[in-house]
Amino acid sequence: KSIAVIIVAAGKGERASLDGSIDPKQYRPVGGKPVLARTVQAFLDLPFVTSVTAVIHADHADRYAALGFSNERLLAPVIGGTSRQASVLEGLKALAPQRPDLVLIQDAARPFAPPQVIGDVVEALERFEGALPTLRVIDTIKRSLDGRQVAATEDREQLFAAQTPQGFRFGQIFSAHMRASTIRRQFTDDAEIAEWAGLRVAMVAGHVDSFKITRPEDFARAERIFGGDIA
Ligand code: C5P
Repeated sequence: KSIAVIIVAAGKGERASLDGSIDPKQYRPVGGKPVLARTVQAFLDLPFVTSVTAVIHADHADRYAALGFSNERLLAPVIGGTSRQASVLEGLKALAPQRPDLVLIQDAARPFAPPQVIGDVVEALERFEGALPTLRVIDTIKRSLDGRQVAATEDREQLFAAQTPQGFRFGQIFSAHMRASTIRRQFTDDAEIAEWAGLRVAMVAGHVDSFKITRPEDFARAERIFGGDIA
């Protein structure tokens, strides 16, 4: 089976920026190596991965080139869109001529992608049309209509936090994404698009260290994970 990986890195990454301007989060180092370089390498390290494609922001081409990758399984970067959803679609379009059997879609901002988790996602695709890693929600979750008054308390037993990589059969997620791009609704992950398209999506066990670097303080946590590994 051919397995393509799309790493979406086309965000501005401003929420993680300390002063709102410099260095998008995916190019900042953790443990001495840029976040995106770590994410790309994690997938290139897996022998069952056929190809890796990074989707980047048009303004970041020089930064991407400076990562210095040279690997025949790393395909040319693709320019993303104005939303994560649009960026994934650009990655899928670029892969369409190759028609891989499976595609794994990964957030660049999650540099810690455990091989075990990635393997579990791929394995689940033997029985399901989509698969993603999840973690049980730890906090009690409140629903509110205005952010001030509680409207309801959710049943925590039924709630799971979604991580990446999210895996799919290529043809199915490509056509689902194409259809999703024609409606107004914005989807926040690819599994949601698969669910919307009626595909059956499995959950496998995620990993606490595979969190998404989002705010400035997340770098300190990532630094603790990679701190000993200056590559
Ligand atoms: O903004 P957020 O942290 O949810 O983004 C998740 C991932 O999607 C990040 O790796 C980001 O670079 C990527 N993204 C993208 N294109 C966008 C917005 C986000 O590839 N327009």
